[in-house]
Amino acid sequence: MDKFLIQGNGPLQGEVRASGAKNAALPILCAALLTDDTLAIHNLPHLWDVATTNRLLTQMGVAVTVAGQGEVEINARSITTCVAPYELVKTMRASILVLGPLLAKRGEAQVSLPGGCAIGARPVDLHLRGLEAMGAEIEVEGGFIKARAGRLQGARIVFDVVTVTGTENLLMAATLAEGQTVLENAACEPEVVDLAKCLIAMGAKIEGAGTSTIRVQGVANLHGATHSVIPDRIETGTFLIAGAITRGRVRVTQTDPGMLEAVLDKLRQAGAKVSIGADWIELDMLGRRPRAVDIHTTPHPGFPTDMQAQFMALDSVAEGVGTIRETIFENRFMHAQELMRLGAEINIEGNTAVVTGVERLSGAPVMATDLRASAALVLAALSADGETLVDRVYHIDRGYEHIEEKLRKLGGKIRRVTQ
Ligand code: UD1
Repeated sequence: MDKFLIQGNGPLQGEVRASGAKNAALPILCAALLTDDTLAIHNLPHLWDVATTNRLLTQMGVAVTVAGQGEVEINARSITTCVAPYELVKTMRASILVLGPLLAKRGEAQVSLPGGCAIGARPVDLHLRGLEAMGAEIEVEGGFIKARAGRLQGARIVFDVVTVTGTENLLMAATLAEGQTVLENAACEPEVVDLAKCLIAMGAKIEGAGTSTIRVQGVANLHGATHSVIPDRIETGTFLIAGAITRGRVRVTQTDPGMLEAVLDKLRQAGAKVSIGADWIELDMLGRRPRAVDIHTTPHPGFPTDMQAQFMALDSVAEGVGTIRETIFENRFMHAQELMRLGAEINIEGNTAVVTGVERLSGAPVMATDLRASAALVLAALSADGETLVDRVYHIDRGYEHIEEKLRKLGGKIRRVTQ
């Protein structure tokens, strides 16, 4: 199992390019199931989760052709099975995103139930209820979601809680339904907007993506298209924090500052000088120690839960006390224990963590527990005295493209150790 060996050193300086967004790429890959024509996808990040989705599609008989670096062409005309097996779903919950498209296009789907996950229970009840409201018959049997439908029927669906993949699943299903579907309390995340943009290019009729009410007028067929995936806002934010936590200066290019407002606000509060251009962001700490910031995670456009762990790392070395409240997932503080192994002072009560900044962290062996938690540990290690060994970096490979190469480009001392 691969590990990262990290030697904390001076300020990170330089420029890195943002990769395509994982959370936009995954639903867009699944959107190819909605048509018999070819969907060409560009700016696809090279990640484990993307590879897993490609494997999932391939084992269904879908043709996935690599067309160039970061480019694939997907054709689902000769699909042979509508089953998403446990072996693949268990490694990536986002596999549930095949459910809506398969049901809408093929009238059937069997998707293994994702089950619990390290960061919380994460049920899929809202996905299922929405599809039932559109006329699907769904039973859960032997660990599988078994769904059937004639042509799905448009419906008004009000989500109890904001769900990103739930919104995406129903949005995809609604494109081929008969009549109008209205999704209320829909997720407004930029990745939902990017999926809608891809679906519109395929011939879907969608209005309101990016707001809490999305209207979809179903069409009989979708056609092929070419779509370029948006930049990864979470990866962008992670590199900016790498600059902040090491008191350095980092510029992220080929990104979109408009998607990161809540994060940039917090970085400014932490004392960073943040400059933006049309497609770049530069953070400069001017050599200063960051100030602690309070964080409260909420759905977009609020502060993203996927940046919470990285800000906990930043608060760990900041001046003052930061309070971090996690409201999206009930068990997303596992990185706190590991940060404490590096010397962080963190008290957790329920969904709130109080972080008292220390002058310096010190290196130690730590264990990555989930994707963003592992990013937090890498960030903390870059600023710590001495050497840190981060175990189980397969978590980080799920969602960060060549992170060690990008950090090395900024002057970080990080090396992958394969054992
Ligand atoms: C997506 C992102 C993930 C991010 C999360 C929140 C992808 C592939 N993953 O995950 O990186 O952390 O959004 O921004 O895009 N819930 C229910 N019932 C449901 C569905 C969700 O109760 O049927 C609850 C969840 O338990 C959670 C909350 O809703 O408490 C939000 O989860 P959701 O937005 O669905 O997360 P994902 O789409 O899985």
